[in-house]
Amino acid sequence: MTLRPAQDRALRLGVNIDHVATVRNARGAGYPDPVRAALLAAEAGADGITAHLREDRRHITDEDIARLSAELPVPLNLEMAATEEMLGIALRHRPHAACIVPERREERTTEGGLDAVGQHNHLAYFVDRLGAARIRVSLFVEPEPEQIEAAIRLGAPVVEFHTGRYAHLAGEEQAAELKRLADAAALAVKNGIEPHAGHGLTFDNVVPVAAIPQLRELNIGHFLVGEAIFTGLEASVRRMRELMDSAR
Ligand code: PXP
Repeated sequence: MTLRPAQDRALRLGVNIDHVATVRNARGAGYPDPVRAALLAAEAGADGITAHLREDRRHITDEDIARLSAELPVPLNLEMAATEEMLGIALRHRPHAACIVPERREERTTEGGLDAVGQHNHLAYFVDRLGAARIRVSLFVEPEPEQIEAAIRLGAPVVEFHTGRYAHLAGEEQAAELKRLADAAALAVKNGIEPHAGHGLTFDNVVPVAAIPQLRELNIGHFLVGEAIFTGLEASVRRMRELMDSAR
């Protein structure tokens, strides 16, 4: 069997390694090392690595970003809040991509998408500065037409749809949310924006999302790191890759 090169795959898998750092930071020791996890994930079929440097550094640290930038054989997608501090770090390391996410100190995880409509003026500065540095900017938004239209006005090349609602729903409500994701992906492509998706995806819920033909990338972290406890990270990434490929 000939393996297709990563860049030819219609649907890329970005593995988010934040929660390897969460486990490390729980004890303040040097292990487990998120960079080692990233290298293993890349070997197992990840097309890219995603890491969120939060303002409070609860998982990924500045040193992790420096090491990922230096050592990764695949593109790095830096998730960041739209702040001057994060912009400075992105411009210093120049990751392949930067995904702008909303961030609240008191949240456990990124609970919803950006308000790209209401925050247009604030976001415009960050989209422009990152774009000028040739960093591929993505906006993490809910799969809503108004948000996509705002991303178009901002000139962002990529939107990532928050799949958290889809992941938490079931039955007809989940089917309705899946349709919202599919419609949003179609609208994005029609307007020349590349659609990605992520948050809360697991072996059990990834296939219908991966089957949305316009999506070009899924970013998946928490489930894969949890599954790695039972099967190892390589096996969990490989299985996710297989499920995504089976949907296409
Ligand atoms: N995409 C974005 C923009 C995220 O912020 C996150 C993590 O919060 C993910 C994808 C991955 O989500 P999860 O860890 O639930 O798979």
